[in-house]
Amino acid sequence: MMLSLEVTSNRFLTSDVVQMELTSEQDLGRGSVGKFIHIDVGRTLRRPISICEVDGHSLTIVYRIEGTGTAWLSERQSGEVLNALGPLGSGYPIMKSGKALLVGGGIGIPPLLQTAKELASNGVQVTTILGFRSEPFLVEEFATYSDVHVVTEDGSHGTKGFVTDVMDAFTYDTFYSCGPRAMLQAVKQRATSPGYLSLEERMGCGVGACLACVCDKADGTYAKVCTDGPVFESEEVVL
Ligand SMILES: Cc1cc2nc3c(=O)[nH]c(=O)nc-3n(C[C@H](O)[C@H](O)[C@H](O)COP(=O)(O)OP(=O)(O)OC[C@H]3O[C@@H](n4cnc5c(N)ncnc54)[C@H](O)[C@@H]3O)c2cc1C
Ligand code: FES
Repeated sequence: MMLSLEVTSNRFLTSDVVQMELTSEQDLGRGSVGKFIHIDVGRTLRRPISICEVDGHSLTIVYRIEGTGTAWLSERQSGEVLNALGPLGSGYPIMKSGKALLVGGGIGIPPLLQTAKELASNGVQVTTILGFRSEPFLVEEFATYSDVHVVTEDGSHGTKGFVTDVMDAFTYDTFYSCGPRAMLQAVKQRATSPGYLSLEERMGCGVGACLACVCDKADGTYAKVCTDGPVFESEEVVL
């Protein structure tokens, strides 16, 4: 679906992470958890950014300034209208009961916020491990829906180390994870249950036509991250 998104706020959460609130003419409602929008940033290729929170016509994204596209996004002012495709992809299935462990690393953290909210609204007991290099963000928001544990690589906040260093302290029925590939590998290895991983690949079209985003599956075939993912069952994909 083609979206016209009006910027209502755009503010820095850390030195390079920005939270943008948008309103959509369309009701994006529920069912968008773990999906992404593909935003026109005034360059040839759109940029994929995950949905952090969505409630009817309101949408929040949180992005890190990496290069020209995200730098351009960070300069947008309230009232400007952005063009995007979305919600795209296949997101996180939300369990109906039991215990969930959410493990997010860096800029992989944002899509887990709507996940936490929807799991909590189903009565699921949610524990979240948030891993940062140094500067945390969205911690209070996660605390509204879950028991939060912060881990930083430099030890400036929470426990010093990696998210996997604290995973063993919890019991859970399913895990949900998003972050850098090396972190996803380590989380999958350490996990004591099946779970879901959200993968990041460079994207072209975002809608399954160009094959820019393929990843290997455990059965020897391949999947398109933009349409078959970005969320996959942990055993389904080769990392
Ligand atoms: C499904 C999905 C969800 C994502 N969600 C978020 C999010 O919520 N927040 C966030 O900050 N980032 C997210 N990303 C990553 C984000 O798309 C890239 O950081 C962004 O495209 C960089 O664009 P740029 O123009 O600023 O940087 P560039 O100057 O183009 O590149 C800088 C870096 O970004 C990488 N990159 C460039 N284009 C893409 C692309 N199309 N897909 C993936 N990586 C790319 C490059 O490999 C390079 O390392 C997501 C990526 C995917 C695939
Ligand atoms: S980005 Fe084109 S097929 Fe996935």
